Amino acid sequence: MCGIVGAIANVNIVPVLLEGLLRLEYRGYDSAGLVVTNHGLQRLRTTGRVTELSKLAAQQEAWGFAGIAHTRWATHGEPSERNAHPHLSEVESRVAVVHNGIIENHEEIRAHLKNQGFKFSSDTDTEVIAHLIAFKLRQTADLFKAVCLSIAELQGAYAIAVMEEAHPERIVAARNGAPLLIGLGKDGNYVASDSSALLQATRDIIYLEEGDVAELNSDGYRIVNCLHNQLGEVVERIVHESHLSNEAIELGPYAHFMQKEIFEQPSAVANTLEMVFNARSISPNLFGSEAEKIFSKTKHILILACGTSYHAGLVARYWMETVAGLPCNVEIASEYRYRDPIADPDTLVVGISQSGETADTLAALSYARKLGHQYSLAICNVPESALIRQTDLRFLTRAGPEIGVASTKAFTTQLASLLLLTVTLAKMRHQLSSESEHQMIAALRHLPAALQNALQVESQVKTWAKGFAKKHHALFLGRGVHYPIAMEGALKLKEISYIHAEAYAAGELKHGPLALVDSEMPVVAIAPNDQLLGKLKSNLQEVHARGGELYVFADADSQITPSEHLHVIRLAEHAGLLSPILHTIPLQLLAYHVALERGTDVDKPRNLAKAVTVE
Ligand code: F6R
Repeated sequence: MCGIVGAIANVNIVPVLLEGLLRLEYRGYDSAGLVVTNHGLQRLRTTGRVTELSKLAAQQEAWGFAGIAHTRWATHGEPSERNAHPHLSEVESRVAVVHNGIIENHEEIRAHLKNQGFKFSSDTDTEVIAHLIAFKLRQTADLFKAVCLSIAELQGAYAIAVMEEAHPERIVAARNGAPLLIGLGKDGNYVASDSSALLQATRDIIYLEEGDVAELNSDGYRIVNCLHNQLGEVVERIVHESHLSNEAIELGPYAHFMQKEIFEQPSAVANTLEMVFNARSISPNLFGSEAEKIFSKTKHILILACGTSYHAGLVARYWMETVAGLPCNVEIASEYRYRDPIADPDTLVVGISQSGETADTLAALSYARKLGHQYSLAICNVPESALIRQTDLRFLTRAGPEIGVASTKAFTTQLASLLLLTVTLAKMRHQLSSESEHQMIAALRHLPAALQNALQVESQVKTWAKGFAKKHHALFLGRGVHYPIAMEGALKLKEISYIHAEAYAAGELKHGPLALVDSEMPVVAIAPNDQLLGKLKSNLQEVHARGGELYVFADADSQITPSEHLHVIRLAEHAGLLSPILHTIPLQLLAYHVALERGTDVDKPRNLAKAVTVE
């Protein structure tokens, strides 16, 4: 999604802005721009990549002590230069704005401002903010107050950074529903939507809270909270030291972030489970100090999530039922928030999100609480995210920053966390003997090595990728707990290779999709040696008999022999509860290598964004 960087310093800030935008590229964008104050506001915008913006900046000798910059992922108005940020109000006071999020009442405000003589030059909701602030500057000469008065009229979720030509010595920033932080540096101060954008300048970060409006100048800042009062009260916010390493957000020896993140999975899972390995026993405290009390009242689980995180939830449902004996519902967050589900105070609501900023997941959790669900738990990869702040309990997947748009290591660390949650609940419900607990810890301790082993199939997967890359469609089949893994495999393939892929529970095949099977339709099957293997083999026969081309990921002990039109890659022997985590790896590798063959932009697939902060 969109990204913001702003800087005000005693030195030229253009290099900091451009590097910040480069570091935000992973979020997904279709245009970029910046404004710097240099004897007036100088604006540069492009529909190309940030490198194009850098070239423009060099050609036009962009230079200044203060500036705001943006990468845009189009919501209102096509991707084009005129819709790219920053947007300017030029009628009276020259005001520049960059914005993440959506202004829901932009049409109303636009109509009002047009009546006041403001002229619009884009199709965006953002432009209304620039004009609204300029309009408020008729009432007050102070940009900070004008921003406070303006945001009181905005509906929706947003993060903004604002500059005024007449006062180049300040940047004003405001947050409501979309992440924004300020960075305190030696030479100046900064604002950004993501701390990785500021690593080149500072590690001292203040995370703004809902309703915060901050004023930055080169040697200071102040923050006022306007949530309950238009003109706000001054507030103190804690300064955090960012421990994000440059290595974590740089490619190193890899060709793509997705490749790096696939291969980081053994260490990502080891980091996520480190506390369990150290403790040698499973304790509810891993999920927060209130966890024991809340878990002891839990009779149902409700999981809310989107996309890949939703697939992790679907796997957890099987575990919850089988291991913990707990009923478990899993809901797509964007659907749940508009239904009339019946609340149950004994239900623990679990929100799963890599980013912790997904608008639908946040809204679904708030809705669940409003309906009467009392307790919530976040499984999330970003400690400072809105999701973490919104829930009673939390467990951090310590996967490190995930830059590739297609989620990989976040998924497997979510699965590891959900398995841990399952066995914790099972233990509290006396469904887990101490012998089983020790066996479980031993299995989890072995998981990083087992993942490393699963990565060894890469060279075999590569040999499949060439043929696959020529196809237009693919079917993915799984049964039981591996059905959501088939869904995840299909999602990975479609989002990065643009091959249309669908997943089916293998037993559903003859109820419709079998009609699609011919030699042009590759069918990928996950065939672990579990209690459903016999059933799955019959489903595979149904495909084989109709001339389908089968690509099977089996366990070493699944006893499936390759033959004509039946390709088999074997993983290690069946891994019991851990099997879905391990079977994820070859599917990620397949999507990655097929995308490479097709020459797509693996890390930044078209039309997609990393954190979906709009509805
Ligand atoms: C797919 C993918 C998305 C996300 C989804 C939810 O590879 O990354 O489907 O899983 O947008 O995002 P989070 O987990 O950040 O809430």
